[in-house]
Amino acid sequence: MTSSELREKFVSFFKDKGHVEECPSSLIPKDDPSVLFTSAGMQQFKKYYLDPDKAKDKKIVTIQPCIRTSDIDEVGDESHLTFFEMMGNFSFGDYFKKEAIEWAKEFLEKELGVEPERITTSVFKGDKELPQDKESIEILKNLGYEEIELCGRDENFWGPTGSEGPCGPTVEFYIDGMEVWNLVFNEYYKTADGKFEPLKQKGVDTGIGLERIAAIMEGEKDIYKTELFWPVIKKIEELSSKKYKDYTREFRIIADHVKAAIFLASEEIEPSNVSQGYVLRRLIRRTIVKARQLGIQSNLADSLVEAVIQVYKSNGLIEKKDKIIRDLKKEEDRFKKTLSLGLRQFERMAGGFGAVVFGGAPKKRQMNGGKLFDLYQTYGFPLELSLEIAKEKNVPIEKGAQENFQAELKKHQEISRAGMAKKFKSGLAGHSEKEIKYHTATHILHETLRQVLGDHVEQKGQNITPERLRFDFSHPEKLTKKQLKEIEQKVNEVIAKNLPV
Ligand code: SER
Repeated sequence: MTSSELREKFVSFFKDKGHVEECPSSLIPKDDPSVLFTSAGMQQFKKYYLDPDKAKDKKIVTIQPCIRTSDIDEVGDESHLTFFEMMGNFSFGDYFKKEAIEWAKEFLEKELGVEPERITTSVFKGDKELPQDKESIEILKNLGYEEIELCGRDENFWGPTGSEGPCGPTVEFYIDGMEVWNLVFNEYYKTADGKFEPLKQKGVDTGIGLERIAAIMEGEKDIYKTELFWPVIKKIEELSSKKYKDYTREFRIIADHVKAAIFLASEEIEPSNVSQGYVLRRLIRRTIVKARQLGIQSNLADSLVEAVIQVYKSNGLIEKKDKIIRDLKKEEDRFKKTLSLGLRQFERMAGGFGAVVFGGAPKKRQMNGGKLFDLYQTYGFPLELSLEIAKEKNVPIEKGAQENFQAELKKHQEISRAGMAKKFKSGLAGHSEKEIKYHTATHILHETLRQVLGDHVEQKGQNITPERLRFDFSHPEKLTKKQLKEIEQKVNEVIAKNLPV
C-alpha cells in the first residue's frame, strides 16, 4: 500500500463515520505564540476543546504535517523523525472513548488488514493527582485486547502543547511493538499554574504517524526504507558513493534533516539566529556536517531538494521550489565559508593537521574546552563538529574538554543574559538626544556592514552611552584597514544626507 493510498483510506474511513476533512494548518502556528511549530494535528483545534460550540464541525479528520524538535536527538534510529505527517480524527464534545477505540481497531484490522495478534495497547495507570483510565481498559478488554500495558504520565498522558491547554489520558496502539497510534482523551484543562480542571465537554484527538504505518504496511521496521524516504537515501548513496547499510545513522540524519529543512523553507521563514529561523539554520548546518562526513562535496540544495520534492509532489513543494533552493543555497554558502575559515583556525590551534614529515608527524597540541568554545563562538562550530574533525584529523582532545566547553557556554549565556538585563534597564533610562542619535547610527552601521562585508553579518549586541556607541556583530575575520575606512566613509555619507527619521 502506498502512502497516498494510506492517506486516502484514512480520510475516507473517517468521512464514512461522519467526519469532515479539514485542510492541514501551516507548520508555523499563526495564532499560538506558546509554540514554535505545529507539532500535532490538534494544535489548530485547541480552541475547540475549550469551547466546542465554536467548532463548525464536531468531527474532523486531517492529515497534518508536523515538526517535532523534541525528538531531534533520537533521529538516526529507525523510527524517530523531525518532520512527519500525522493522520488524525478529532471530536469536540461529540464521541468519546468507546467510538474512538472501536474505530481505531476497525481501521487497523479491517481496512489495513493487520492481524489482531500483532496489536498491543497501553493505558494510563493513574497517579497521585489523576485517576486511572478504567473506562478505556474496559473497552479494550471487551474488544478482545488482552495485552494492555499500564503506564504513567510520561507515556500515557498527553498535552498540553505549550504552557497551558487541553490534555488527558491516552490509549496507545502498537503493532509488532512499534507505537503507531495515539488516542488522546481530552478531559482536563491544565492551567498555567499547573492545575487540572475538568473540561466542560470532552474531546478526542488521535494521531497516527504516516511514516510508521507506511513502514508496517511495507513489512519494514525501518521507516527510511519506505517510499517516503528511499529515493532520498538512494540519492545520498549516489552522491557519496557509500552504502546506507554501512553509514545508516549519517544517512538517516541527512535524509530527515534535509526534508524538515525543505518543508520549513517552504514556509515564510528564513535561516536566522532566532526562533524558527534558528531551527532551520541548525537543520541545514547539521545536514552539511553529516554530508561532509560522508565525503559529499556537491551542493546539497541542488542535489537533494529535487529528490525530496519528487516524493511530495502533492504537498505544494513544487510551487515553492525556488525559495527553498535559494534559502538552502544561501545558508550552505554562508556556512561553508565559515567552515573553511574555522578549519584553518582549528589547524592552527592543533599545531597543524600535519602531513607526514621526515622524522615523524608534527606534534599535535591537545584541544581543550577553551579552544573548542572559541571555535564555537567565533566560527559557529557546534561541539559535535569539532569533535568529528578532531577524530578525522587525529587531534587529541584533552580529558574533560567537553565538560569545560559546556561550562564556558553556560558562563557565556549567563553573562549575556545579565548584560541584556542591564542594557534593558539602561535603555529605559537613556533617552538623551545623543543616545537617540547613536541608536539611529547603529542601524546605519549594521546595514553598511552588510553591504561591505556581506549579508552574513548579524547583530550580536549593542551598547550605547552618552559618549559612544558599541556595536557587536558576527564576521569570521578581523576587518582590514581598507574595510574599516570604507565602512566609516559610507556611514558618514548617510549621516551627512540628514534624512528625516
Ligand atoms: N496529539 C497527540 C499526539 O500528537 C495525538 O494526536 O500524539
